[in-house]
Amino acid sequence: MPQFAQRIGRAQPSAIMQVAEKAKRLKAEGRDIINFSIGVPNFLPGDHIYAAARESLAHDSGQYGSNRGSDALLEAFLAHLEKIGLTGYTVANLASGIGAKQVIYNLAEALLDEGDTIAFAVPYWTSYRDIAAIVNAKVDLLPCPAAQDYKLTPQQLEAALEKKPRVFLFNNPSNPTGMVYGREEIAALADVLVRYPDTWIITDDIYHAMVFDELGYHNFAHARPELRDRLIFVDSLSKTYGMPGWRVGLMAGPESVAKAIATLNSNHITSIPEVVQAAAVAAMAGPQDVPAAKRREFQAKRDQVMDVMDAIPGVVCPRPQGAFYAFPDVSVAFGRVHGPSGLAIADDLTFCSVLLETKGVACVPGSAFGEPRAVRISYTCPTPQLAPGLQRFAEFFAELN
Ligand SMILES: Cc1ncc(COP(=O)(O)O)c(C=O)c1O
Repeated sequence: MPQFAQRIGRAQPSAIMQVAEKAKRLKAEGRDIINFSIGVPNFLPGDHIYAAARESLAHDSGQYGSNRGSDALLEAFLAHLEKIGLTGYTVANLASGIGAKQVIYNLAEALLDEGDTIAFAVPYWTSYRDIAAIVNAKVDLLPCPAAQDYKLTPQQLEAALEKKPRVFLFNNPSNPTGMVYGREEIAALADVLVRYPDTWIITDDIYHAMVFDELGYHNFAHARPELRDRLIFVDSLSKTYGMPGWRVGLMAGPESVAKAIATLNSNHITSIPEVVQAAAVAAMAGPQDVPAAKRREFQAKRDQVMDVMDAIPGVVCPRPQGAFYAFPDVSVAFGRVHGPSGLAIADDLTFCSVLLETKGVACVPGSAFGEPRAVRISYTCPTPQLAPGLQRFAEFFAELN
């Protein structure tokens, strides 16, 4: 039997998908399951987006497209960037990919040699760790527990940058915590970043349209425009426009980086399909009422989630201000037994599996995000399911001995 490359031994299947699969299986067996596990926005794109896709089909060229993205796609992204105050770019600064995940993967290929370090906060989005492992980079994990609202401090950033990582990867709003950095917090971190010119900065801000409480979205490039020379902003249509399956990711950064991404694309994906690009243009250039309505809906759902979390003794849940996740620290349950079932809860993994078995509620163990004291609740389920799901979550705690 021929050998695999070592690389594949370092890649892990997604822990989130494993929970989602189990929830799906129980549902297929007839169980009443409420799924808080998968991070999908759970709405479909606006009609104008489907209309643009149909129109594109009617005039299909059937050809390969540009490695960087069509002119129309890049122009639409440029205008979209300007709306969030990221100005001064041209299409030469932009590139696209099959979802933000592939864009980030490409960035890792382009910026990290084997053994280079990439630094990021914990909790982190699961794929950061796995992508780093696949390209054989070292990771410097910067712990940001619930006690510090899951947010990175300027002091932590300074200590990390002193070690000269090749890349600092930042995610705002955050998956899994829903935390959003305010204007002053971003400015304080940006002040540190300017002092370390040898580190690339990637801001994975794909949830930037889902910020609540009038907090606004802020990027290091707003605070210190000089950082643009080494800052790469990553965006995606997946969450903002209800298009995770359409697979459109985008980046804006230095021309040299955009060119490197196009070169990598030319050697694997070639291009995003023409019909998808047409739909993406319509999403960014068309009416923004669907994302705006969803932001209001998610903010109301966040309030519902927090009312329940705040009322459970011992559970600590920093208040999310964006995306559609809450990340309660549930470690108060560890070492206890679920009375009615007699099942013991040792850690986040058994917490999630006992909760799913006994209450039919699926959450993702925090260890998938590097924080084993917590679990992730994704609250985009259909509205009628949210209150009963939360009620079962609270009942579960009340039943612990
Ligand atoms: C923080 C973060 N970055 C990137 C992605 C990937 O998004 P896409 O669907 O565009 O690949 C996700 C998806 O869950 C995410 O949560």
